[in-house]
Amino acid sequence: MANTKIKCLNPIASIGLDMLGAEYDIIENVEEADGILVRSASMLDMELPKSLKAVARAGAGVNNIPLEKCAENGIVVFNTPGANANGVKELVIAGMLMASRDIAGGINWVRDNADDENIAKSSEKAKKAFAGCEIKGKKLGIIGLGAIGVLVANAASALGMEVYGCDPFLSINNALNLSRLVHIVKDREEIFANCDYITVHVPLLDDTKGMINKDTIDLMKDGVVILNFARDILVNEDDLAVALESGKVAKYVTDFANPKSVTMKNTIITPHLGASTAESEDNCAIMAVEEIKDFIENGNIRNSVNYPPCDAGVCTTAGRVTICHRNIPNLISSISGVFSAVGVNIDHMFDKSRGDYAYSIIDISSPSTPDMLSKLEAIEGVLKVRIIK
Ligand code: MLT
Repeated sequence: MANTKIKCLNPIASIGLDMLGAEYDIIENVEEADGILVRSASMLDMELPKSLKAVARAGAGVNNIPLEKCAENGIVVFNTPGANANGVKELVIAGMLMASRDIAGGINWVRDNADDENIAKSSEKAKKAFAGCEIKGKKLGIIGLGAIGVLVANAASALGMEVYGCDPFLSINNALNLSRLVHIVKDREEIFANCDYITVHVPLLDDTKGMINKDTIDLMKDGVVILNFARDILVNEDDLAVALESGKVAKYVTDFANPKSVTMKNTIITPHLGASTAESEDNCAIMAVEEIKDFIENGNIRNSVNYPPCDAGVCTTAGRVTICHRNIPNLISSISGVFSAVGVNIDHMFDKSRGDYAYSIIDISSPSTPDMLSKLEAIEGVLKVRIIK
């Protein structure tokens, strides 16, 4: 069998790539790719190769990938939730500290006064310009308690902050990992009204875009600090610029430099450094490669953002076929009809749906044949069929 071809659209840590093994080739030409590994490169305008089966993003956000177009073409998109969460958490805590103490101003002052022989004495005079406040005892509101939000909540709580979290989709796992000191609130308005620091950890979706805007800022305390290490357009930056100008928002700390954010007053902006640690890059590469390998070799789906989870383990029967299909009535019976027509027994069949799309793993008692493949592909609503074995 030919090797599986993987295209990396960004550099991916070698610890992950090394796990691909001898049956995989890293290729240059994306048009031949079976799988794509990507970090921040935009795939939004890319022509998706016919051969493409899977895309794995080494990171959490997937706004650089056309999820719907991929789903329509039977291409399963994965991300790596939690793999870089610690790296992002540490930068959020650093951002909160930098918003509270003028560390950068102080460092710059020392640099600018390096020639002053009396710098030790001058420092004592100059330092009042860089004085700040402590975060201990302050109220932190976290919108979104996913992997990153939970780590930020626990760390801030350990630093003595009073932490409030809000997430209508809080998973059992994340709830179990949350410190008991963290107050869960039902409405984010409670966070807007009461917190001194507000940090956003939600994915970029149609209904989260611009969620920090004039209306929500108006609900906040005067002098609030807003942190955004998720995605820039979660914040309406025109509204925020006005609030920063008036002092309503004391500081905006963000990991997203863009032509607008860099012009705004009272900002602390880093160039998307959240996951730029050796540990996060390694963790993301390992997870992305594990996901793509399990999908290519066994047809299993773990951590997809456009198809449902579906895990049938390693195939122990003579054949396995996987099908990406639309979630429509009678399709499963048409699929099983193909096997019964050729006298092949289905040993196990797993079918899971997610919105408009569904995925089947079918283990059969004889090896799959090209004839089955073409019959399955001809069914209305079938998007991609793969013979695993
Ligand atoms: C993510 O989506 O995981 C973060 O933005 C970090 C990154 O991609 O570098």
